[in-house]
Amino acid sequence: MVKLAVLGASGGIGQPLSLLLKLSPYLTELALYDIRLAKGVATDLSHINTTVKVSGYDKDDLKSALTGADLVVIPAGIPRKPGMTRDDLFKINAGIIKTLAQGVAQFAPKAMVLVISNPVNSTVPIFKQVLSDAGVFNARRLFGITTLDLVRAKTFVNGFEQYWKDLSEINVIGGHSGNTIVPILSKAASYAKLTAQQRDALIHRIQFGGDEVVKAKDGAGSATLSMAYSAYVFVERLLKAIKGETGIVEDTFIYLDSSIQGVKEVKSLISGGVEFISLPVRLSARGVEAVEFGILNELNQHEKELFNVATKELKVNIAKGITFVTGSK
Ligand code: NAD
Ligand code: LMR
Repeated sequence: MVKLAVLGASGGIGQPLSLLLKLSPYLTELALYDIRLAKGVATDLSHINTTVKVSGYDKDDLKSALTGADLVVIPAGIPRKPGMTRDDLFKINAGIIKTLAQGVAQFAPKAMVLVISNPVNSTVPIFKQVLSDAGVFNARRLFGITTLDLVRAKTFVNGFEQYWKDLSEINVIGGHSGNTIVPILSKAASYAKLTAQQRDALIHRIQFGGDEVVKAKDGAGSATLSMAYSAYVFVERLLKAIKGETGIVEDTFIYLDSSIQGVKEVKSLISGGVEFISLPVRLSARGVEAVEFGILNELNQHEKELFNVATKELKVNIAKGITFVTGSK
């Protein structure tokens, strides 16, 4: 029996993600919550003849949506328009995330929480701080979803030459915005065939891929379908790990809690004291089992430089999220 709640289920991401989750063989119950239309979306999905039971909850019924949830996936919040950075979303989304985190702390304190809402570099720290203040934070159970960056990387490398066969050698670490997104491509054999110009163009496209969608949607929002796919991929991998499958490794943005295997090594390899970061993480029934820190030893010089730029910006984004909660007490 696995219940998953989607908070922000009626939105551009929420609807296609909920559709994909309705097809999941690993779920028994899907609770859809939004400030608008959740009951309508739930009724619509409930007519699909798969075994997942779907229910919808209005604005005032966060408690029912969350009670008994094993997983909570959060795409609630406003998306970018052309000319905006993800940080520009902070003003509105920080408050939304804080309220939802308080709900999770109260009604589903043991759930695994997957945060999609931007700016991820700050919303995950907000979530962590609220759960910590409520005395229910467990670093193994809070994930910022950065999967779309890797999905894009695996897609875009083939826009250059058709020779990238070794996609499993590709990674994206750091955070989820512009320069904090650090593509790690040098382990793939094809990387050596790129000119410096091609390499830079490829890395830039991965870092700023979100802008392409924002521009093409021309004011109507940002990536929704590719994000729903990416979140679904992550959820399915996590559900497999929860069911006991071993060897599942995914990139995700987590709090670096020293009790987690590999975190001490990560901290010794990163200068400047970054407390949250996206890295490849081994998943298990308890969530984050271990951080695969070895990747940090394998960066080439160019990747090290990108990583240093990323961690400086990340620190500012993280502090902004934490201060939003601690400063408002
Ligand atoms: P959207 O506006 O289409 O949908 C957002 C939904 O959230 C709406 O249905 C809205 O009613 C709901 N909502 C607002 N406040 C709420 C609250 N307090 N409780 C519950 N629901 C609430 O936006 P979208 O395109 O689905 O994007 C959602 C968020 O995801 C944005 O912040 C966007 O930047 C982010 N995003 C993240 C990634 C990533 O890689 N992590 C990728 C794409 C988009
Ligand atoms: C993305 O990477 O597509 C999302 O973070 C949405 C955005 O604002 O670009």
